[in-house]
Amino acid sequence: MVAENAVNTVITEGEPFYGPDFGMLRRNDPEMAQVLLDELERTRGGLQLIASENFTSPAVLAALGSALTNKYAEGYPGHRYHGGCEVVDRAEALAVERAKLLFGAEHVNVQPYSGTTANLAAYAALLRPGDTVLAMALSHGGHLTHGSRSNFSGRWFDVVSYGVRRDTELLDYDEVRDLALRYRPKMIICGAAAYPRLIDFAAFRGIADEVGAWLLADMAHTIGLMAGGVIPSAVPYADVVTFTTHKSLRGPRGGGILCTSEVAARIDRAVFPFTQGGPLMHAIAAKAVMFGEALRPEFAGYCAKMIANCRALADTLAEEGMRPVTDGTDTHLALVDLRGLGVSGAEAERRCAAAGITLDRSVIPYDPEPPTVTSGLRLGTPCVTTQGMEPSDLVEVGRLVARAVREPRAAGEIGERVAALSAAHQAYPCRR
Ligand SMILES: Cc1ncc(COP(=O)(O)O)c(C=O)c1O
Repeated sequence: MVAENAVNTVITEGEPFYGPDFGMLRRNDPEMAQVLLDELERTRGGLQLIASENFTSPAVLAALGSALTNKYAEGYPGHRYHGGCEVVDRAEALAVERAKLLFGAEHVNVQPYSGTTANLAAYAALLRPGDTVLAMALSHGGHLTHGSRSNFSGRWFDVVSYGVRRDTELLDYDEVRDLALRYRPKMIICGAAAYPRLIDFAAFRGIADEVGAWLLADMAHTIGLMAGGVIPSAVPYADVVTFTTHKSLRGPRGGGILCTSEVAARIDRAVFPFTQGGPLMHAIAAKAVMFGEALRPEFAGYCAKMIANCRALADTLAEEGMRPVTDGTDTHLALVDLRGLGVSGAEAERRCAAAGITLDRSVIPYDPEPPTVTSGLRLGTPCVTTQGMEPSDLVEVGRLVARAVREPRAAGEIGERVAALSAAHQAYPCRR
């Protein structure tokens, strides 16, 4: 027996309907089903070296595609503004419990829709419009939410920027301290979108304490490495740690906040009702699945491999005349300076794309070129590591990238090798 429901889908009686059913999408909306297939084909057919992307597990995708998307649950577990939240409460409680265990944080908020809204909530919790903030310059590797004039942070707050030293391209803690003493910020932000080295959280804590500032660690990029225990944790030092769930942590697109008990209530109120409405319960369920995966011992191995792979990639690019900023990396990402090859970042991004290699152009510190052109590339290893690649594979990837940048006419030939390498390490391999 079959039952027809309102959206014209057929459910066989007795079979529990849990959500993701690609056949149903194909029948109901073949046009959109094709978009999904084409995107899968695109990622499977080439190399994904965008440092902020990853491939979630099928379990995470299943939770994301679940009926939990239907539920309104404004508020927090046990204190909702809607009826019928007792089941989704379990999803959020699990996510919070697992994240607390994973990071050793006193308090966790798993509701932020993204890294940007997590940062917005952190500003809202700790500051008033017009307050002074000290954060890393976007042109040196910071993020839009760290004071760009095109973002709420630069428009509503008085942001003073620090950068990296010209000679070493490393964070200049003396400059951070001098600026903090001069401008007396109410909040200092550490963390970046394009900085390949470790951050000295203790040094930032010391400076924040000296001037009585809050310390926000924006770990959007390196949170997975922190979860895997392969880089130092910001939790013992920062009042608030914001993060994204879709980068090195390998979860669904979204954000999260870890904080001390002292600011917990302010953070929760800043997320809801101040900056967000109903939480995305399907995404929160998927975050719980992801935290569960990150708690398994093999996740630490994955994180260590991300770094080893990135070092192999950066070393190879260096041999090929693409100088790694800071001469290397401690993380999952590398920035390279292309000026030695006389090719702009934008042109290199285009040439790599023609050979099936997806990566981002990026400004490098003291870049003479504007952000639309740039002198550099940012590359990362979360995706290729999830696909099972090893440092020896990344040596080949580095050579392919360098050749694609240097020899645009060889794009077809390079593309064939890229496709073969990707085929040997498939994201979401087909079931046989
Ligand atoms: C340091 C940093 N903070 C915040 C964000 C914002 O994250 P989202 O794109 O999820 O808003 C990013 C994203 O790249 C980031 O790198």
